[in-house]
Amino acid sequence: MNGTRLPASSVAANITAAATASFESCPDARLRQIMQALVRHLHAFASEVQVTEDEWARAIQILTQTGHITDERRQEFILWSDVLGLSMLVDALAHPSANGATESTVLGPFWTPNAPKRGYAESTAEGAGGTPALVRGRVLDQDGRAIAGAELDIWQNGDNRLYAVQDAEAPEAHLRGRFYSRADGTYAFVGVRPVPYTIPHDGPVGLMLDATRRHPWRPAHIHMIVSAPGFQRLQTHIFDAESAYLDSDAVFAVKPSLVRHFEPRTPEDPETPPGVSGPWCVVENDIVLARA
Ligand code: BEZ
Ligand code: FE
Repeated sequence: MNGTRLPASSVAANITAAATASFESCPDARLRQIMQALVRHLHAFASEVQVTEDEWARAIQILTQTGHITDERRQEFILWSDVLGLSMLVDALAHPSANGATESTVLGPFWTPNAPKRGYAESTAEGAGGTPALVRGRVLDQDGRAIAGAELDIWQNGDNRLYAVQDAEAPEAHLRGRFYSRADGTYAFVGVRPVPYTIPHDGPVGLMLDATRRHPWRPAHIHMIVSAPGFQRLQTHIFDAESAYLDSDAVFAVKPSLVRHFEPRTPEDPETPPGVSGPWCVVENDIVLARA
């Protein structure tokens, strides 16, 4: 060696080549492909923005904080994936075309297993929660045939903006429930009209949103996971057509086909669900499942 220095771009290329080659003997072809592409894209990213040592140290701090704030009730890694649009990209890659089936969207961090099983048209509200909303429709296959016995796992927020898992005052089952389609594919449940809310923004994701002048709001929606034997599991939302933030969802999850009208009704209406004594609303929402 005579002490001559290579140009920075050759040094970078050599490092990238060495790190990529280190995975050459990985026996799992898919893992090898993923690790090598990850190295190439990470290195290209660092070179493109000419990342500084201080910036990289800050990035490590943020990742460390992300780990520290994450537990069974709070998943900050999913939140990063959501606010960077990655969750919706993975969703688009998994479901390139709906082919007449209901479109999917993000799961979000507030689903929890074992929601109570409830009967046809029962209410999910275990106390006050907002304007009652009767949601009803049919579960169908892509040829329009009824699917009986499909499970609809529902969760949503109430007028205090909170999901049951976030709300220390609310019973665990509040605004959650598992419903089943009947022999003719019909299903119904009574929830409440959902309200816009902010995604958790008191952690590292919130710092990023603040620093970049992005807002943390999601438009009003009801979540559902619909499953039936022989069909693909569907995770989706019903969005309220009158909600704010439909055009600027913090997690990019709005699809026009999922937006529905919450039609107002009075308590004198003959269809008023049992136990409802004030204004309420109804949402018509058929669900089409794709074959597995
Ligand atoms: C949700 O809709 O529950 C949600 C989705 C992504 C991030 C935060 C919340
Ligand atoms: Fe939500």
